[in-house]
Amino acid sequence: MKIFLDTADVEKIRELYQWGVVDGVTTNPTHIAATGRPFLDVVREILEIVDGPVSLEVISTEAEGMVEEARKLAALHYNVVVKIPCTVEGLKALKVLASEGVKVNMTLVFSANQALLAAKAGATYISPFVGRLDAIGHDGMEVVRQTVAILRNYGFTSQVIVSAIRHPQHVLQAALCGAHVATVRPEILEQMIRHPLTDEGLRRFLEDWRRVPGGLAL
Ligand code: E4P
Repeated sequence: MKIFLDTADVEKIRELYQWGVVDGVTTNPTHIAATGRPFLDVVREILEIVDGPVSLEVISTEAEGMVEEARKLAALHYNVVVKIPCTVEGLKALKVLASEGVKVNMTLVFSANQALLAAKAGATYISPFVGRLDAIGHDGMEVVRQTVAILRNYGFTSQVIVSAIRHPQHVLQAALCGAHVATVRPEILEQMIRHPLTDEGLRRFLEDWRRVPGGLAL
């Protein structure tokens, strides 16, 4: 499973990209606004750091405007994936962009039927927001399971990006469902590597090592 970072925090991306497990980045208007910096400055820096798909979201709500913005975003760099909201206008824009070879991440997906339509219209990525569904009493991961099954049943090439992940268990469930990608906030990636038994085990090994005569004489 691929792991994307769900943030526009350039310094965090720079730091965590060095771990060697980050395959791409997803941004959204909220992430960009949180940086307090101009959009293009942030995006150019992310594109310099990450050699993988970087999702950038359109702001227009009409198909025509979405297509226009998407073309400009896609022209920035070959790694740009354009995020389009899962609306009727978004579907129309997706169809046009897919025919032009622009990679689209259909975002704000909350049902498997929305995902099916996005796949049919040619989405490269489909992003179900699991945490937001869980928060209103639905089962977000069930939408992921259903979407993965639909894509397999019909041989669609779209990839599922499990989004709005709230904790490491969501990542694990995404992997068990066979989702292609999980996009995680930096703090969740950090939680995934940490384990108190690893820390304690390492502490004990190093303590015992002090009793080895001559140390590491290779
Ligand atoms: C995915 O691409 C979105 O950026 C994301 O996961 C948003 O989710 P959240 O704002 O609910 O965390």
